Amino acid sequence: MTLDTPMSAELTPEAIKAMRRSYGDAGLHEAEFGSDPMAGFKKWLADAAANPVVVEANAMVLSTVNGDQPSSRTVLLKDVSEEGFSFFTNYNSHKGYELSSNPHVSLLFPWYPLERQVIVKGIATKVTRQESDEYFVTRPWGSQIGAWASEQSSDLQSREVLEERYAQLALKYPEGSQVPIPPHWGGFIVAPVTIEFWQGRYSRLHDRIIFTHSNNGWSLRRLNP
Ligand SMILES: Cc1cc2nc3c(=O)[nH]c(=O)nc-3n(C[C@H](O)[C@H](O)[C@H](O)COP(=O)(O)O)c2cc1C
Repeated sequence: MTLDTPMSAELTPEAIKAMRRSYGDAGLHEAEFGSDPMAGFKKWLADAAANPVVVEANAMVLSTVNGDQPSSRTVLLKDVSEEGFSFFTNYNSHKGYELSSNPHVSLLFPWYPLERQVIVKGIATKVTRQESDEYFVTRPWGSQIGAWASEQSSDLQSREVLEERYAQLALKYPEGSQVPIPPHWGGFIVAPVTIEFWQGRYSRLHDRIIFTHSNNGWSLRRLNP
């Protein structure tokens, strides 16, 4: 495969080692979230979404485990409620298969311009068919066709094969028609077990507050940075 876009000059090993920035004074106090980390999460998500420098504030790195091999990739958060964090994908993708045999996941929200990070660990289950249907109809037509066209994660002979499949499906379901939801497409919801809030501080003395869920509700601890 050839790349026809110009490449940036490569960074030297020294330049990579020298990459660092100082974090600010905005502290994170135990009282800030009370006993409700979900409300705290929604507040931080809103802060990220309101910051013009943050692109894709709802992007999160989803890590799954296949045997002893972890895998990570970005997905978009599409709902957050008391039940958990939802995203949509192809159930036949690598992540889909991994989640069917091991539902333990990590979600990481990297809000670097705010010097913040949230890490959620929890258990993923499929959302109901109705919830997937309801979200699918709100997607742009092109994305609906794309969900049919892409056999996500499987080998693709060429870009042309994918575009040809898309064109055929666009004829089958013309713009303006109702595109049915593919049977292999839908949502997962991650029920949180722990939620860690990280706020960058001076001299690498960052704040880390971790909430753990149990039958008694949420409890909180502070961790060394
Ligand atoms: C910003 C961004 C958002 C993405 N959102 C999604 C998403 O919501 N759902 C999804 O299936 N893939 C999404 N992707 C693509 C995934 O990162 C990944 O390439 C794809 O889901 C296949 O992953 P898998 O082979 O590990 O299953 C997104 C990628 C980026 C960079």
